[in-house]
Amino acid sequence: MNRSPNNRLSTKVKIAFAGAGYICNIHAQAAKAQKDVELVAVVEKFPDKGQAFAQKFRIKDQFETVEQMLNACDVDALVVGTPNYLHAPQTIAALNASVHVMVEKPMAMNSREAYQMLDASQKSGALLMVAHCWRFDPEVLWLREQAKSGRFGKIIRTKGYGVHKLWGPSGWFTQRKFAGGGAMADVGIHALDTVRFLIGDPQAESVYARISTNYIPNDVDDTGILIVNWEGGVVSYIESGWWQPHTDGPEAATQLYGTTAFGQLFPTYVQEQNQKDDPGFAYPRKEHCPQSLYDDQMSYFIQCIRANQLPSPGAIEGWINMKIVDAAYQSSETGEVIKVR
Ligand SMILES: NC(=O)c1ccc[n+]([C@@H]2O[C@H](COP(=O)([O-])OP(=O)(O)OC[C@H]3O[C@@H](n4cnc5c(N)ncnc54)[C@H](O)[C@@H]3O)[C@@H](O)[C@H]2O)c1
Repeated sequence: MNRSPNNRLSTKVKIAFAGAGYICNIHAQAAKAQKDVELVAVVEKFPDKGQAFAQKFRIKDQFETVEQMLNACDVDALVVGTPNYLHAPQTIAALNASVHVMVEKPMAMNSREAYQMLDASQKSGALLMVAHCWRFDPEVLWLREQAKSGRFGKIIRTKGYGVHKLWGPSGWFTQRKFAGGGAMADVGIHALDTVRFLIGDPQAESVYARISTNYIPNDVDDTGILIVNWEGGVVSYIESGWWQPHTDGPEAATQLYGTTAFGQLFPTYVQEQNQKDDPGFAYPRKEHCPQSLYDDQMSYFIQCIRANQLPSPGAIEGWINMKIVDAAYQSSETGEVIKVR
């Protein structure tokens, strides 16, 4: 099919989904909630699962591979929500066909693949967004505004985590050849991306990590601590985990320690020295990952497509996160502090 990004955009953005599992159900519901978006195709390895998804979301076309879909279907955008080892090949195939992509986190198996995806996006002119969903959370956005306004003085250090208490995923998530990594790549990356966003997306200078497998005999990790030194001087301490006996709060949260104030997520507030807490948000929050988070994320993706605007979180943010994750695994293996380039 002969395409060039955006020359062919009709009034409706035609969107397809790779994967008919947990996250694509959420993304399809988010796409349904958008104005002028048409859900046109699903790509799913298991035809029965694809069929159920197609019926649920009234999607006409169903395929078993992304290549088949790209050959047969007039589509503007693809959401990639398959196991991690498929993110790079499916994304690159779509970008090379001038189809815009929103790919799930972790963007790829490693930073080398992430760079290939970035390169394919730059060469094709098709947009690549990485679904680092916490960047769309109202509480995260509020705390980021507080940081930008200078309320914290200088942020010295941060503490955050992405941890599942007394549970962890199964199936492909726990096999290195399909997932690339375990809890660090799966939920640690949420905490990593969130803190980077909160402190203004600095480059990472170096990483020290200890990552291990303790709770279930998997060939991926279920426990990690990571220290990131950011350009500009902030130091971040991040925990990742599955099956942990304790978590300090909901699945993921971050604290910021500044020279004039402390601030945190979930519950979200800022406490300036000698002042009452600024609640910022009414809490307790009903759901940690509400559908509205994904609706807002999808709305932004569609907006970027319509405006032909580079998304953020895009390929660069996803690639930087993958470089830090790679460095974390390398640090844990070698016991060394790893410089991030
Ligand atoms: N941002 C978030 O909140 C969030 C939450 C959950 C999962 N995720 C990410 O989304 C991705 C998918 O996770 P999930 O929980 O939906 O997994 P899942 O296992 O529920 O769904 C994956 C789907 O892909 C299908 N699939 C496998 N091989 C395929 C192939 N070759 N072609 C087409 N389809 C294929 C599977 O059959 C399955 O239906 C992962 O990268 C995960 O990290 C993100």
